[in-house]
Amino acid sequence: MTGVSDLFDLSDRVAVLTGVGSGIGKATALTLARAGATIVGGDIDEANAQMTADEIVSNGGNALVQRTDVTKRAEVDALVDRAAADFGHVDIMGNIAGIPHNKLVAECTDEEFERILAINLKSVFYGCQAAIRHMIPAGTGNIVNISSGAIDTPAPTLACYAMTKSAVAMLTKTLATEVGPHGIRVNAIAPGMILTNFSRHNFTDADGNVVPERFEAYNKRSSAMAPLRRVGDPQDVAHAFLYLVSDAASFVTGEIQRPNGGVAMPW
Ligand SMILES: NC(=O)c1ccc[n+]([C@@H]2O[C@H](COP(=O)([O-])OP(=O)(O)OC[C@H]3O[C@@H](n4cnc5c(N)ncnc54)[C@H](O)[C@@H]3O)[C@@H](O)[C@H]2O)c1
Repeated sequence: MTGVSDLFDLSDRVAVLTGVGSGIGKATALTLARAGATIVGGDIDEANAQMTADEIVSNGGNALVQRTDVTKRAEVDALVDRAAADFGHVDIMGNIAGIPHNKLVAECTDEEFERILAINLKSVFYGCQAAIRHMIPAGTGNIVNISSGAIDTPAPTLACYAMTKSAVAMLTKTLATEVGPHGIRVNAIAPGMILTNFSRHNFTDADGNVVPERFEAYNKRSSAMAPLRRVGDPQDVAHAFLYLVSDAASFVTGEIQRPNGGVAMPW
């Protein structure tokens, strides 16, 4: 019988992850590397991504990064193709990079709408397509897309963001039906409120400095919304990611995992 730790052993697996420069992407890269995976990371912020790779390598892991703007199909293709060329296979694809957007529908400009669609949605489509080109011939693979808890509860100013993340959830479920027969699992994670750079706009001033009173208020408000009474940590999402790509989840596909402290449950 397979040992429990063997189920989470990712040795010999190659994981392509976007958004590894910060927050959830960084925590996921470090976690998968600790489980033995080789990380091929992409981020528009190459310096931050390189710091993630350096941390993995200094912990004895294997990682490389490549500057990638996920809104550009050619750059996403190049990242995935690099993984296959350098390491021979692409076992895991994590479409993680994304940005927040808060604007009333009445005030959202065309430029903002196009930008959020490109970064949060088209990028995931490009990443899935690039990955399955390698995974279908291999007859195996795992894709995890980052959606959001915003798909569960309508809230003012979140229309554009929630539209992209709802579409990511539907892409995930649809693709799972198409590639399941090829041995490929496709799942999504819809995190609740997770403390990362993404959340900073909630408690910083116009110059980007943290305002302690705002930070305390944000923490209090967000914690009160969750039955577990805390804001999430990127590691909470990384652990959900690890589970989904592990052999422990070998019968799980088309699923939306919700590490959110219970926020989406009806009271
Ligand atoms: N933090 C939260 O509360 C939360 C909740 C739900 C979902 N999410 C989702 O989680 C994902 C990761 O967010 P995070 O909280 O770690 O944010 P973060 O800001 O800490 O990290 C996002 C990373 O994406 C990169 N990125 C942005 N635009 C890019 C582009 N065009 N090309 C390549 N890389 C780009 C950034 O440089 C950064 O390293 C996002 O998709 C976000 O929508 C976050």
